[in-house]
Amino acid sequence: MLTKTLSHTLHRCPRARVSCKSRRLGTATRVLEGKPNGSPASSEASSELSTFRRPPAFQLTQSPNPTWRTGQGLAEEAVGAAEWEQQGEAGWKTWALDGVQPKDIYPLLTSAIVPRPIALVSSLSSDGVPNLAPFSYFSMVSHDPPLLSVSFSLSPRRPKDTRENILATKEFTVNIISEPFVEAANSTAVEAASEADEWAVSGLTRLDSVDVKPPCVRESAVSFECELYHAHDITPPASSTVTQTLVLGLIKRVHARSAVMSADGRTVDAGRLRAVSRLGGKVYARIGEGFELPRPSWKAIREELKNSGVN
Ligand SMILES: Cc1cc2nc3c(=O)[nH]c(=O)nc-3n(C[C@H](O)[C@H](O)[C@H](O)COP(=O)(O)O)c2cc1C
Repeated sequence: MLTKTLSHTLHRCPRARVSCKSRRLGTATRVLEGKPNGSPASSEASSELSTFRRPPAFQLTQSPNPTWRTGQGLAEEAVGAAEWEQQGEAGWKTWALDGVQPKDIYPLLTSAIVPRPIALVSSLSSDGVPNLAPFSYFSMVSHDPPLLSVSFSLSPRRPKDTRENILATKEFTVNIISEPFVEAANSTAVEAASEADEWAVSGLTRLDSVDVKPPCVRESAVSFECELYHAHDITPPASSTVTQTLVLGLIKRVHARSAVMSADGRTVDAGRLRAVSRLGGKVYARIGEGFELPRPSWKAIREELKNSGVN
């Protein structure tokens, strides 16, 4: 019943509707609307989409409202502000999540918490069987010490081999997925038997690591060699069933292709890395443009507030 109500409201609620306008290719434009995540309903629909275009050079643009002033909030002159304001007036949908099934929480949260970076995790079982799989419950946690997090959903159907391997061997590598090999990386998500070799399925290449046993992915422009720092099993409130395991990895070594480094040699250039991220459903996203905003200075803001008569 709750499930029905949820899917019903997802389709009707304007806030939950996502329209994905494919780019104009000649005169043909395809709009996917009214489907959760704006994703094609099936893989057949994929042939109706525009062809993937070679990426235009990554551009840095101005921010949406470069004349924004302290205290201004959503300013009329911001690009898209009027439409944004109108959407807000159309009302809200609210979910009290303790009454919603996990299978319905999943599409809601994974389409709302976006874009998520993706870790292509390489691990070895205690018998040395290699494993490769993508995980988008992934983030940087800290730089001192250098930690990243990956989180595994425990399906009652089968354990996640990556989780089992990391808990058993305490080592793994995280490899960043870039556009040119995203299909190969995606193929490693196949739910195969633990002895199946996702490296063979994907055709990706193993590259020996230095500090840990699991290999890196040669096609990845950036790889992290990690040791297990901490693992935390997660249970829903008032339950003793573990549904998720959060793993923190201590990054021992970073490998980055010289070609993706910025001129200063200290940072990775997003335009060169072409990392893909995860949206809801089956949708991946690309990074096409960026804009810079300076870190606010309290001294400057205090001055501005004083001059405008606000304390
Ligand atoms: C892009 C992408 C992101 C994924 N993110 C996660 C995730 O964060 N956590 C998770 O448990 N499964 C995630 N999955 C599903 C796993 O990749 C899938 O269950 C895989 O078979 C696990 O492999 P393993 O059993 O060899 O570890 C994701 C799949 C894809 C395609």
